[in-house]
Amino acid sequence: MTKKGNSRSINENFKNKDILSLIQFSPKDLRYLFSLSSKIKKVKNPNKLLNILKGEIITLLFYEPSSRTYASFVSAIKRLGGQTIDILDPRHSSSVSKGETLRDTIKIFATYSSIIILRHPEAGSAKIAAESTNTPIINAGDGIGEHPTQALLDLFTIYEKFGKLNSLTGVLAGDLLNGRTVHSLIAGLSKFSGNKLYLLSPKTLQLKQSDLLSFKNQGIELICINSKKEIPQNANFWYWTRIQKERFKSDAEYKKVKNKFIVNKKLLNNYAGRNTIIMHPLPRVGEIKEEVDKDQRAIYFTDQIKNGVYVRMALLILILNKKT
Ligand code: NCD
Repeated sequence: MTKKGNSRSINENFKNKDILSLIQFSPKDLRYLFSLSSKIKKVKNPNKLLNILKGEIITLLFYEPSSRTYASFVSAIKRLGGQTIDILDPRHSSSVSKGETLRDTIKIFATYSSIIILRHPEAGSAKIAAESTNTPIINAGDGIGEHPTQALLDLFTIYEKFGKLNSLTGVLAGDLLNGRTVHSLIAGLSKFSGNKLYLLSPKTLQLKQSDLLSFKNQGIELICINSKKEIPQNANFWYWTRIQKERFKSDAEYKKVKNKFIVNKKLLNNYAGRNTIIMHPLPRVGEIKEEVDKDQRAIYFTDQIKNGVYVRMALLILILNKKT
């Protein structure tokens, strides 16, 4: 079964759309989503929200481990009065262990629920899932592909801080080859004019050349750097990521590139500005020192985490076309 174009551009209409990639969003779509996210964030009495997804059941089908994405989606659904079917590690806990294909598994859960939130180790799997059903699929991370809802909360967080998503300078650091969150974030920032991103990584973990070219063609300035000395002074935001150990062939390969770039007080003093915000999708595994956590500019345990729930609430409301 092929769905009639659900995986396409949002085009100011989220109803029944799959969320597979940041490529689907225009600046207008993002502003629309963020204005609802802000509205939800400001709600004083959370009980008022409890009827919005009443009677809705949403499946979370997670083939890879997750803390924040899983829990923030569950939190978002429950705050709106909806319910969840939680299939964590389906290779052990469902008929996937008997050899069921992704397409078949998706068809089954599509019957039981109004949205499927899918995390899967293979890039492109969310698209395959979307082609298998008319039920909306939200990509909660497809291997080294994309992680659109993470980028949506990251962009919302940047937008809240600077009141804009254009003419910004950012530093994206870590595993830019395998890190799906950075792929989605760059795709999002490419939609706005005047953005300049410094991509700091070991040479072997640079963004894929074809991605670099296709983003650059959209007009965003991308500067690949391999040494911390090249970090610009006073960027608007730093977005640090971990080296994606699980994507490496061997432990030895991983160890060669692990923790090359560590954020500590000294690095902040040398390169960050007074208003530079420090972000990370988490988990961190040593690439930001704990001494940084108390710095006002570090927002990975505060704004970024909280916004994950509001943005996901807003997204679910819009996909299911609910009134607020
Ligand atoms: C990220 C992921 O799963 O891609 N985590 C998350 O969803 N916040 C980042 C990572 O695992 O490094």
